[in-house]
Amino acid sequence: MDKIKIVGGNRLQGSVILSGSKNAALPILVSSLLTAEECTYERVPNLQDIEFILRVLGELGAEIDGELDDGTVKVKCEEIDQVEAPYDLVRKMRASVLVLGPLLARFGEAKVSLPGGCAIGARPINFHLEGLKALGAQIELQEGYVIAKCKRLKGNRVTFPFPSVGATEHLMMAASLAQGETVLENCAREPEIVNLGETLNKMGVKLEGAGEETIRIQGRDSLNGGRFRIMADRIEAGTYLTAGFITQGKVKVEGLEPIHLEAVLKVFEKAGARISRGKESIELEAQGLARGTPITTEPFPGFPTDMQAQFMALMCVAQGESEITETIFENRFMHVSELTRLGADVSTKGNVAVVRGVHTLNGAPLMATDLRASASLIVAGLVAKGETVVSRVYHLDRGYERLEEKLSALGANIERLKETT
Ligand code: UD1
Repeated sequence: MDKIKIVGGNRLQGSVILSGSKNAALPILVSSLLTAEECTYERVPNLQDIEFILRVLGELGAEIDGELDDGTVKVKCEEIDQVEAPYDLVRKMRASVLVLGPLLARFGEAKVSLPGGCAIGARPINFHLEGLKALGAQIELQEGYVIAKCKRLKGNRVTFPFPSVGATEHLMMAASLAQGETVLENCAREPEIVNLGETLNKMGVKLEGAGEETIRIQGRDSLNGGRFRIMADRIEAGTYLTAGFITQGKVKVEGLEPIHLEAVLKVFEKAGARISRGKESIELEAQGLARGTPITTEPFPGFPTDMQAQFMALMCVAQGESEITETIFENRFMHVSELTRLGADVSTKGNVAVVRGVHTLNGAPLMATDLRASASLIVAGLVAKGETVVSRVYHLDRGYERLEEKLSALGANIERLKETT
């Protein structure tokens, strides 16, 4: 299995062109199931999770054309020959559960494995299932599978108990082929939801309110294909800016509207960085060491849970103490024990971590445990003295396109050690 070796200490400087957003691309690629016509997607990132969702669509019968290398992929779900997504596929990537609603809405039946828990928490899909039931689906759970049936989904009012990103996306897609109007309330407001909303509108749905608490959808009998563009990855952007900050450098990320990362930018400013916001770019210039700054993760527009681990790495070498409160996932501090191996001073109690900044981190062999935890170890490795080797890199490959290439271009001493070396 590949590893990543970093020799810490280099100040990062330069600019990074951002890749397409993984979390926007996943539901948008799944939305191709809603139409028999061809859909062309631009700025699709070349990532394991994306390859994986394309494999799921392929197994269902989708024709897939194009290379992830150049970011353009065509998907045509004209002849879907099965409506079942087996455990082996769904357990490897939770987002594949999103095929349930579109299959059900278009073909009247679907059988999808329950995803099970994952490293960061139990992550049930009860809001998804309750929402589909409200649209008229009959749902049974049998031997670890969700079996869903309906004649035709019917528009209804659905109020989510919590603004879940996945449940909001799932119901937006299902409601697009339902009869009549669906009103979704207490929706997640993440930019990726807006990107999916734009996509569905282009496919012929009348959808209003994506990015707001209430989304109204007028379902259609059938939808059209077209050409769609994936937004830039705001979490990738935040990760490179953190890397710039921790090395006391100056890093610009290009391709993203700064508003998509505003909560993080405000925290960077509080921690002492200078931020310049362009139309579609953000530049961070460190003004010396970061200052200890508290954060609490929240649904958008709050501080994203997907940036918590990377920010913690920054706080490990900040001046003073910072309190980090995780409110979205119940088990999202696995990076703490690995950061401690570098010499960080972090203690946790429940969902709160207290980080006391130390003068120096020292390189060590580390193990990646999940996607964003891995990113935090890389960020910490950039300032740790000597060599840090992060293993189980497949977690990183799920969500960061050409990470070591992009960091090298900024001046980091980083390389991938292939399995054979
Ligand atoms: C998405 C993102 C993930 C991000 C998360 C929160 C994708 C592919 N993944 O995950 O990177 O960290 O949003 O911003 O876009 N919940 C329930 N029942 C449900 C659904 C969710 O209890 O039916 C809970 C979850 O366990 C979690 C919270 O709600 O505690 C938020 O989860 P949700 O917003 O649904 O996250 P995902 O869509 O899985």
